Amino acid sequence: MHHEKSIVVSNLSFSYDQEQLFRQVSFSINEGEWFTIMGKSGSGKSTLLFLLSSLIDPKEGEIIVNGTNIACATRKELNNFRLNQIGIMFQDYSFLH
Ligand SMILES: Nc1ncnc2c1ncn2[C@@H]1O[C@H](COP(=O)(O)OP(=O)(O)O)[C@@H](O)[C@H]1O
Ligand SMILES: [Mg+2]
Repeated sequence: MHHEKSIVVSNLSFSYDQEQLFRQVSFSINEGEWFTIMGKSGSGKSTLLFLLSSLIDPKEGEIIVNGTNIACATRKELNNFRLNQIGIMFQDYSFLH
């Protein structure tokens, strides 16, 4: 279990259908860092954020948030994760609180 807050992505691959959006992407973000995702429209920026938020599941690879592999988290752990550890402001939807 890591005590430092971090997001660690290893060999992440994702496609909605046949077309692969990303293949074997790896990076890590540590607490306090600003991390910018840049790319043209349709390149997969929103999809990457949905993956990091556990709203969709990777086809391949791992996403470890604060020491927990979110693909292996129980429903209770995911509820806690979504409630306390991640925030996302959607581009296309209203913010409800
Ligand atoms: N739910 C979906 N089903 C199928 N294809 C999708 C879906 N959402 C996005 N896409 C496609 O995946 C690609 C990446 O989309 P997106 O992550 O929204 O890109 P960005 O945020 O960088 O503009 C685009 O080609 C988009 O049309
Ligand atoms: Mg987008």
